[in-house]
Amino acid sequence: MLEIHNLSVFYGEFQALFEVSLRMAEGETVITVGPNGAGKSTLLKTISGLLQPRSGTITFLGKRIDRIPAHEIVELGISHVPEGGRLFPQLSVYENLKVGSFLPKARGEAAATLKDIYTLFPILDERKKQYADTLSGGERQMLAIARSLMSRPKLILLDEPSSGLAPRVVTRVLEFVHRIKSQGYSILMVEQNVRKALRLSDRAYLIESGRIVKEGPRKNFLEDDYIRKAYIGL
Ligand SMILES: Nc1ncnc2c1ncn2[C@@H]1O[C@H](COP(=O)(O)OP(=O)(O)OP(=O)(O)O)[C@@H](O)[C@H]1O
Ligand SMILES: [Mg+2]
Repeated sequence: MLEIHNLSVFYGEFQALFEVSLRMAEGETVITVGPNGAGKSTLLKTISGLLQPRSGTITFLGKRIDRIPAHEIVELGISHVPEGGRLFPQLSVYENLKVGSFLPKARGEAAATLKDIYTLFPILDERKKQYADTLSGGERQMLAIARSLMSRPKLILLDEPSSGLAPRVVTRVLEFVHRIKSQGYSILMVEQNVRKALRLSDRAYLIESGRIVKEGPRKNFLEDDYIRKAYIGL
Protein backbone atom coordinates (compact mmCIF):
# COMPACT_ATOMS: atom_id res chain seq x y z
CA MET A 1 0.00 0.00 0.00
CA LEU A 2 2.97 2.30 0.67
CA GLU A 3 6.02 2.39 -1.55
CA ILE A 4 8.91 4.76 -0.92
CA HIS A 5 11.66 4.87 -3.47
CA ASN A 6 15.05 6.60 -3.16
CA LEU A 7 13.80 9.38 -0.95
CA SER A 8 16.23 12.21 -0.20
CA VAL A 9 15.21 14.97 2.18
CA PHE A 10 17.06 18.14 3.13
CA TYR A 11 16.72 20.82 5.76
CA GLY A 12 18.32 23.68 3.85
CA GLU A 13 21.77 22.40 2.97
CA PHE A 14 21.67 19.60 5.53
CA GLN A 15 20.72 16.23 4.11
CA ALA A 16 18.63 14.24 6.59
CA LEU A 17 17.63 11.26 4.41
CA PHE A 18 19.71 9.56 1.73
CA GLU A 19 17.87 7.57 -0.92
CA VAL A 20 15.60 5.83 1.56
CA SER A 21 13.42 3.05 0.18
CA LEU A 22 10.71 1.30 2.16
CA ARG A 23 7.52 -0.53 1.40
CA MET A 24 4.52 -1.75 3.32
CA ALA A 25 1.70 -4.10 2.47
CA GLU A 26 -1.83 -3.54 3.67
CA GLY A 27 -2.39 -4.72 7.25
CA GLU A 28 1.30 -4.78 8.06
CA THR A 29 2.89 -3.28 11.14
CA VAL A 30 6.36 -2.02 10.34
CA ILE A 31 8.72 -0.43 12.81
CA THR A 32 11.62 1.85 12.10
CA VAL A 33 14.36 1.98 14.68
CA GLY A 34 17.55 3.96 14.90
CA PRO A 35 19.49 6.35 17.12
CA ASN A 36 18.55 9.95 17.90
CA GLY A 37 18.90 12.17 14.88
CA ALA A 38 18.88 9.26 12.42
CA GLY A 39 16.01 10.71 10.40
CA LYS A 40 13.07 8.66 11.66
CA SER A 41 10.75 11.59 12.33
CA THR A 42 11.88 13.19 9.09
CA LEU A 43 10.74 10.09 7.25
CA LEU A 44 7.27 10.18 8.83
CA LYS A 45 6.95 13.93 8.22
CA THR A 46 7.83 13.48 4.58
CA ILE A 47 5.24 10.72 4.14
CA SER A 48 2.54 12.90 5.69
CA GLY A 49 3.47 15.87 3.52
CA LEU A 50 4.89 18.14 6.23
CA LEU A 51 8.23 18.03 4.41
CA GLN A 52 8.90 17.91 0.69
CA PRO A 53 11.56 15.50 -0.55
CA ARG A 54 14.25 16.83 -2.86
CA SER A 55 14.16 13.61 -4.84
CA GLY A 56 12.54 10.20 -4.78
CA THR A 57 8.92 9.10 -4.79
CA ILE A 58 6.22 8.09 -2.33
CA THR A 59 3.29 6.10 -3.65
CA PHE A 60 0.24 5.35 -1.51
CA LEU A 61 -2.46 3.01 -2.81
CA GLY A 62 -1.16 3.51 -6.31
CA LYS A 63 -1.09 7.32 -6.17
CA ARG A 64 1.98 9.55 -6.02
CA ILE A 65 1.78 11.63 -2.84
CA ASP A 66 5.24 13.18 -2.61
CA ARG A 67 4.20 16.47 -4.16
CA ILE A 68 0.79 16.99 -2.64
CA PRO A 69 -0.09 19.05 0.45
CA ALA A 70 -0.47 17.50 3.88
CA HIS A 71 -4.23 18.01 4.15
CA GLU A 72 -4.79 16.04 0.93
CA ILE A 73 -2.63 13.24 2.25
CA VAL A 74 -4.81 13.03 5.36
CA GLU A 75 -7.84 12.80 3.11
CA LEU A 76 -6.26 9.91 1.25
CA GLY A 77 -6.14 8.03 4.55
CA ILE A 78 -2.79 8.65 6.22
CA SER A 79 -2.92 9.78 9.82
CA HIS A 80 0.23 10.99 11.57
CA VAL A 81 0.58 10.93 15.35
CA PRO A 82 3.60 13.14 16.02
CA GLU A 83 5.98 12.71 18.91
CA GLY A 84 4.26 13.93 22.08
CA GLY A 85 0.82 13.50 20.55
CA ARG A 86 -0.13 17.21 20.35
CA LEU A 87 -3.36 17.00 22.26
CA PHE A 88 -5.42 20.01 23.24
CA PRO A 89 -4.71 20.09 26.98
CA GLN A 90 -7.73 22.26 27.84
CA LEU A 91 -10.18 20.08 25.96
CA SER A 92 -11.72 16.93 27.37
CA VAL A 93 -10.90 13.44 26.17
CA TYR A 94 -14.16 13.41 24.25
CA GLU A 95 -13.49 16.79 22.64
CA ASN A 96 -9.99 15.76 21.64
CA LEU A 97 -11.42 12.67 19.98
CA LYS A 98 -14.04 14.75 18.17
CA VAL A 99 -11.30 16.97 16.74
CA GLY A 100 -9.91 13.87 15.05
CA SER A 101 -13.01 13.46 12.90
CA PHE A 102 -12.60 16.73 11.02
CA LEU A 103 -12.73 15.15 7.56
CA PRO A 104 -16.19 15.37 5.98
CA LYS A 105 -16.19 11.65 5.32
CA ALA A 106 -15.18 10.81 8.89
CA ARG A 107 -17.56 13.33 10.45
CA GLY A 108 -20.62 11.46 9.29
CA GLU A 109 -19.29 8.33 10.95
CA ALA A 110 -17.95 10.05 14.05
CA ALA A 111 -20.54 8.67 16.46
CA ALA A 112 -19.97 5.10 15.31
CA THR A 113 -16.19 5.47 15.31
CA LEU A 114 -16.31 6.93 18.80
CA LYS A 115 -18.38 4.01 20.00
CA ASP A 116 -15.85 1.59 18.53
CA ILE A 117 -13.01 3.42 20.23
CA TYR A 118 -14.73 3.39 23.61
CA THR A 119 -15.43 -0.32 23.24
CA LEU A 120 -11.86 -1.03 22.25
CA PHE A 121 -10.37 1.23 24.92
CA PRO A 122 -12.73 1.47 27.90
CA ILE A 123 -10.25 3.67 29.77
CA LEU A 124 -11.03 6.51 27.35
CA ASP A 125 -14.74 6.03 27.92
CA GLU A 126 -14.18 6.24 31.68
CA ARG A 127 -12.18 9.43 31.28
CA LYS A 128 -14.13 11.08 28.49
CA LYS A 129 -15.06 14.18 30.48
CA GLN A 130 -11.61 14.70 31.92
CA TYR A 131 -9.28 17.40 30.55
CA ALA A 132 -6.48 15.95 28.46
CA ASP A 133 -3.84 17.60 30.63
CA THR A 134 -5.08 15.73 33.70
CA LEU A 135 -4.40 12.35 32.09
CA SER A 136 -1.32 10.32 32.89
CA GLY A 137 1.46 10.26 30.31
CA GLY A 138 0.42 6.83 29.07
CA GLU A 139 -3.25 7.76 28.86
CA ARG A 140 -2.36 10.90 26.93
CA GLN A 141 -0.43 8.87 24.41
CA MET A 142 -3.32 6.41 24.07
CA LEU A 143 -5.69 9.31 23.50
CA ALA A 144 -3.43 10.74 20.78
CA ILE A 145 -3.37 7.38 19.02
CA ALA A 146 -7.13 6.88 19.44
CA ARG A 147 -7.74 10.36 18.03
CA SER A 148 -5.91 9.38 14.87
CA LEU A 149 -8.47 6.58 14.40
CA MET A 150 -11.27 9.15 14.31
CA SER A 151 -10.24 10.18 10.79
CA ARG A 152 -10.80 6.56 9.66
CA PRO A 153 -7.24 6.20 8.32
CA LYS A 154 -5.91 3.39 6.20
CA LEU A 155 -2.36 3.93 7.39
CA ILE A 156 -1.29 5.22 10.81
CA LEU A 157 2.12 6.79 11.34
CA LEU A 158 3.21 6.65 14.98
CA ASP A 159 6.24 8.64 16.08
CA GLU A 160 7.65 7.18 19.29
CA PRO A 161 4.38 6.54 21.11
CA SER A 162 6.24 5.40 24.23
CA SER A 163 8.58 8.36 24.42
CA GLY A 164 9.22 9.53 27.98
CA LEU A 165 7.14 6.81 29.62
CA ALA A 166 8.12 4.43 32.41
CA PRO A 167 8.77 0.83 31.27
CA ARG A 168 5.50 -0.50 32.68
CA VAL A 169 3.56 2.21 30.88
CA VAL A 170 5.48 1.61 27.66
CA THR A 171 4.19 -1.95 27.73
CA ARG A 172 0.61 -0.71 28.14
CA VAL A 173 0.85 1.79 25.30
CA LEU A 174 2.34 -0.81 22.99
CA GLU A 175 -0.44 -3.24 23.95
CA PHE A 176 -2.83 -0.50 22.91
CA VAL A 177 -1.04 -0.27 19.54
CA HIS A 178 -1.28 -4.03 19.30
CA ARG A 179 -5.03 -3.88 19.75
CA ILE A 180 -5.24 -1.39 16.90
CA LYS A 181 -3.11 -3.65 14.75
CA SER A 182 -5.52 -6.51 15.53
CA GLN A 183 -8.32 -4.41 14.04
CA GLY A 184 -6.53 -4.68 10.71
CA TYR A 185 -4.96 -1.23 10.52
CA SER A 186 -1.65 -0.71 8.76
CA ILE A 187 0.88 0.90 11.07
CA LEU A 188 4.27 2.44 10.47
CA MET A 189 5.83 3.12 13.85
CA VAL A 190 9.06 4.69 14.99
CA GLU A 191 10.17 3.35 18.36
CA GLN A 192 13.16 3.49 20.71
CA ASN A 193 11.92 0.53 22.74
CA VAL A 194 13.17 -1.84 20.12
CA ARG A 195 12.56 -5.13 21.84
CA LYS A 196 8.98 -4.36 22.87
CA ALA A 197 8.12 -2.76 19.55
CA LEU A 198 9.56 -5.63 17.55
CA ARG A 199 7.23 -7.97 19.37
CA LEU A 200 4.19 -6.47 17.68
CA SER A 201 5.77 -5.73 14.32
CA ASP A 202 5.82 -7.82 11.17
CA ARG A 203 8.92 -6.25 9.68
CA ALA A 204 11.47 -3.66 10.66
CA TYR A 205 13.93 -1.16 9.23
CA LEU A 206 17.05 0.19 10.86
CA ILE A 207 17.95 3.71 9.90
CA GLU A 208 21.29 5.30 10.78
CA SER A 209 22.51 8.74 9.72
CA GLY A 210 19.72 9.08 7.20
CA ARG A 211 20.26 5.72 5.54
CA ILE A 212 18.43 2.41 5.76
CA VAL A 213 21.15 0.02 6.87
CA LYS A 214 19.07 -3.08 7.60
CA GLU A 215 15.62 -4.36 6.89
CA GLY A 216 13.85 -7.63 7.36
CA PRO A 217 11.15 -9.59 9.14
CA ARG A 218 10.90 -9.25 12.92
CA LYS A 219 12.63 -12.55 13.52
CA ASN A 220 15.78 -11.53 11.63
CA PHE A 221 15.96 -8.35 13.69
CA LEU A 222 15.55 -10.17 16.97
CA GLU A 223 18.33 -12.57 16.04
CA ASP A 224 20.68 -10.06 14.45
CA ASP A 225 23.89 -9.63 16.47
CA TYR A 226 24.38 -5.99 15.60
CA ILE A 227 20.77 -5.05 16.40
CA ARG A 228 20.89 -7.01 19.66
CA LYS A 229 24.08 -5.35 20.84
CA ALA A 230 23.30 -1.82 19.72
CA TYR A 231 19.53 -1.59 20.19
CA ILE A 232 18.22 -4.35 22.38
CA GLY A 233 21.00 -4.37 24.91
CA LEU A 234 21.64 -8.10 25.03
N1 LIG B 1 13.77 21.60 11.24
C1 LIG B 1 15.01 21.15 11.14
N2 LIG B 1 16.00 21.93 10.66
C2 LIG B 1 17.26 21.47 10.53
N3 LIG B 1 17.65 20.23 10.83
C3 LIG B 1 16.70 19.40 11.31
C4 LIG B 1 15.35 19.81 11.48
N4 LIG B 1 14.64 18.78 11.97
C5 LIG B 1 15.53 17.76 12.10
N5 LIG B 1 16.76 18.13 11.70
C6 LIG B 1 17.97 17.30 11.70
O1 LIG B 1 17.73 16.18 10.87
C7 LIG B 1 18.28 14.99 11.44
C8 LIG B 1 17.18 13.96 11.58
O2 LIG B 1 16.22 14.42 12.53
P1 LIG B 1 14.96 13.55 12.96
O3 LIG B 1 14.15 14.39 13.85
O4 LIG B 1 14.34 13.00 11.76
O5 LIG B 1 15.67 12.39 13.78
P2 LIG B 1 15.01 11.20 14.61
O6 LIG B 1 15.57 9.93 14.07
O7 LIG B 1 13.54 11.34 14.63
O8 LIG B 1 15.61 11.44 16.07
P3 LIG B 1 14.93 11.23 17.53
O9 LIG B 1 15.05 9.78 17.84
O10 LIG B 1 15.80 12.05 18.43
O11 LIG B 1 13.52 11.71 17.47
C9 LIG B 1 18.90 15.41 12.75
O12 LIG B 1 20.29 15.58 12.54
C10 LIG B 1 18.25 16.74 13.07
O13 LIG B 1 19.11 17.56 13.79
MG1 LIG C 1 12.14 11.71 16.10
